[in-house]
Amino acid sequence: MTIPPAFLDELRARVPLSDIVGRRIALQRAGREYKAPCPFHAEKTPSFYINDQKSFFHCFGCGAHGDALGFLMRHDGLAFPEAVEQLAGLAGMEMPKSEPAEAQKYDRLKRLADALEAACKYFEAQLRAPAGRNALTYLIRRGLDDQTIAEFRLGYAPPASDALRAALVGQGHDEAVLEEVGLIRRPDDGRSPYGFFRNRAIFPVADKRGRIIAFGGRILEGEGPKYVNSPEHALFHKGAVLYGLARARTAIAKGEPPVVVEGYMDVIALQAAGIGGAVAPLGTALAEGQLAELWKAQDPKIQRDYPPILCFDGDGAGRRAAVRAVERILPVLGPARSVSVAFLPQGEDPDSLVRNGGAAAVRQILDDALPLIDAIWQFGTVDRALTTPEQRAGLWAELEGQVRAITDKQVQTLYRAELKQRFDAMFIQARTFGNNWEGGKKREGRKWDGKKSFAPGPRPAAVRSSAVVEARIMLAMMINHPFLFEELSETFAELALPVAWEPLRQALFAQLADQPLDAEALCVHLRASGHASVLDDVLGPATTERARFVKAGTPKDQVRAGWFDISSRSHSRSLDRELAIARSNPSRVEDQALERISKLGERKYYGNEAAENQDGSPVFIDHEAVVARKIASALNAPSKDVRRDDGTSGESDP
Ligand code: UTP
Ligand code: MN
Repeated sequence: MTIPPAFLDELRARVPLSDIVGRRIALQRAGREYKAPCPFHAEKTPSFYINDQKSFFHCFGCGAHGDALGFLMRHDGLAFPEAVEQLAGLAGMEMPKSEPAEAQKYDRLKRLADALEAACKYFEAQLRAPAGRNALTYLIRRGLDDQTIAEFRLGYAPPASDALRAALVGQGHDEAVLEEVGLIRRPDDGRSPYGFFRNRAIFPVADKRGRIIAFGGRILEGEGPKYVNSPEHALFHKGAVLYGLARARTAIAKGEPPVVVEGYMDVIALQAAGIGGAVAPLGTALAEGQLAELWKAQDPKIQRDYPPILCFDGDGAGRRAAVRAVERILPVLGPARSVSVAFLPQGEDPDSLVRNGGAAAVRQILDDALPLIDAIWQFGTVDRALTTPEQRAGLWAELEGQVRAITDKQVQTLYRAELKQRFDAMFIQARTFGNNWEGGKKREGRKWDGKKSFAPGPRPAAVRSSAVVEARIMLAMMINHPFLFEELSETFAELALPVAWEPLRQALFAQLADQPLDAEALCVHLRASGHASVLDDVLGPATTERARFVKAGTPKDQVRAGWFDISSRSHSRSLDRELAIARSNPSRVEDQALERISKLGERKYYGNEAAENQDGSPVFIDHEAVVARKIASALNAPSKDVRRDDGTSGESDP
């Protein structure tokens, strides 16, 4: 619909912008303007300004900017013509008559949208009718509560093939429209039309503004495909739609990273668990248009640090899917257009992980997401023989091929430089230290383990320590250095582990408590008793990349120091919470806690993480003691700012 510019100008002039905004959020006067906490990003102090003279709003925090129509579109999620209509209503102005052809098109699309919305309501009602009992039970058994079912507008399509048509035609919807959006099908041989969704749980698909445009139907029992989905039509283009985006957009605008998962149920489980940025493509690989939607939904400043996270299964198929996804993304990479890549534990999807381990288990996996460059490096080098010049040349050719696929010149140059640096460093370090670290085995092994036991070049900035990384390292250490078990079996028993690793811990415990084995024999035993895939996961690159002392054959004192480092790191995390309490209200810290904290604070620690011992091994920091001192000093001088720059955030494994 083309609307004459003069009409729009008149609209803007008639209704003060502050009126429109003021009906939705509380405004404060600020001289000739108004201000408020920005509705488009999370903030406490107002940086969102409204200027009635110039009829625009501007946020100095997130850069949101626009006029009355822009505000309505963004805040209320309206399409442009809808925003114009709303504003015209407020201004008491008659909508201009548009070209007949356009009006017709608009009307036609509106009829499709109305029919889809009516179908959605019908399915929702059926789920709650006696006929929907089975479907409702099914959804509840899968862990969904009433509120979630209502929020996602889940429904049920009854088995009778004419039910939907009869109901909707009865409400005045046109049969041809139902056919056009794929809700009913008309057989070629003249038999009567039948409903496309029959005896299925219904997952309505909304566009990014929340308007229903399609459905997915899940089978409940019997034969047939697991899901059937609406065909494409004038309002529904698969490659541009992400399931869950309308709801996710709000969370993403507030700083949650977009998380791309595979299925309907995954999105629902994650969003319901508070991981609000979860979305899924509709049964296809992530398309460029879908990625573009995610980038658009993010504040570019946040996007730089927390790009969309693509979640893949932890098995071979997941890894292959990740490689293909990365290949598709390279051509569209840009300074504020990237992704990171996360892998789920073996045998879990996001839905099952939430149910088994809660949102925390998922957050840990997301915290562990690899920046794209690390993912590319890992895909190229893991489990690959790289001992001959030809093999290495092969690796470089492959990496170079990927770099060339990046069309943004600046990004391309930087990727090439970074990968080249890692490539060179890998072989230089392999020559210098290889035999020491690998206990002389390296020459015999046909495969370079590629897992960066020799962390090449500077450590990638995004490799952070997180609870799951620490747990992974400690579990891997127990396997590769079974002597630790004698000294630390209690700590090991208490270690918080993701559920997927629990059986492995139990097997380890059972074996080591019964009969000590060396690392090699232990691995053989664990593999033989059904833990091979978890073992590969735990001993995989995400572990060895981060901590060299995990490697079998590392001298015992370095192993002990490494264990101490990691465990004090994870303790310091919980102390950090106490620190926050201590700072906000010292009187709330209990006496016992105080005593423990001050004891910890007295523990010796090394202040300089770059330091080396005389034998060249790295010096480890007692992170727990560092935090304890901070707490102690916060308690003594609660008003003073407690600085966070004394090494707790650094990596002490150089
Ligand atoms: P999954 O098979 O992983 O399904 O397919 P899911 O979402 O985990 O479903 P549950 O947990 O078994 O109920 C992932 C997505 O692929 C599409 C759907 O969008 C599904 O959510 N798909 C899958 C289809 O379109 N058709 C199918 O037959 C299967
Ligand atoms: Mn599933």
